[in-house]
Amino acid sequence: MASEVDWELLARSATEAMGRAYAPYSSFPVGAAALTEDGRIVTGCNVENASYGLTLCAECTLIGALQMGGGGRIAAFYCVDGAGAVLMPCGRCRQLLYEFRAPGMVLMTTAGVKTMDQVLPDAFGPEHLEGTP
Ligand code: THU
Repeated sequence: MASEVDWELLARSATEAMGRAYAPYSSFPVGAAALTEDGRIVTGCNVENASYGLTLCAECTLIGALQMGGGGRIAAFYCVDGAGAVLMPCGRCRQLLYEFRAPGMVLMTTAGVKTMDQVLPDAFGPEHLEGTP
């Protein structure tokens, strides 16, 4: 799976998205790009707020765009900082990505390509809600 991913394209898409970030408070723009199982590229950028805690990470806006664009599952993911360097998704965003992962989802990390399961082991997911009212 990882070998079929165009990581250059994902990096470029994430960097382009980073250019749209609204980060006047942290001055830390972030961009994210995902390749869907059916071959689409979906992107997001962080959107901060004067009420700091309400800030949306780049992954949040990406997931919103994914759902609004018809949904689907993420096969590969790439996140960058303001310099275009690989950025690890924060813990909350790992959970957001986990919800929409395709089987075997991979992401670029500061230590190379890893699976979603490696960066969020023993995750809580939709399957744990099965059977609850
Ligand atoms: N940020 C993201 O967009 N994604 C992450 O995974 C880590 C942090 C943003 C949130 C905030 O706007 C800025 O980076 C500094 O924390």
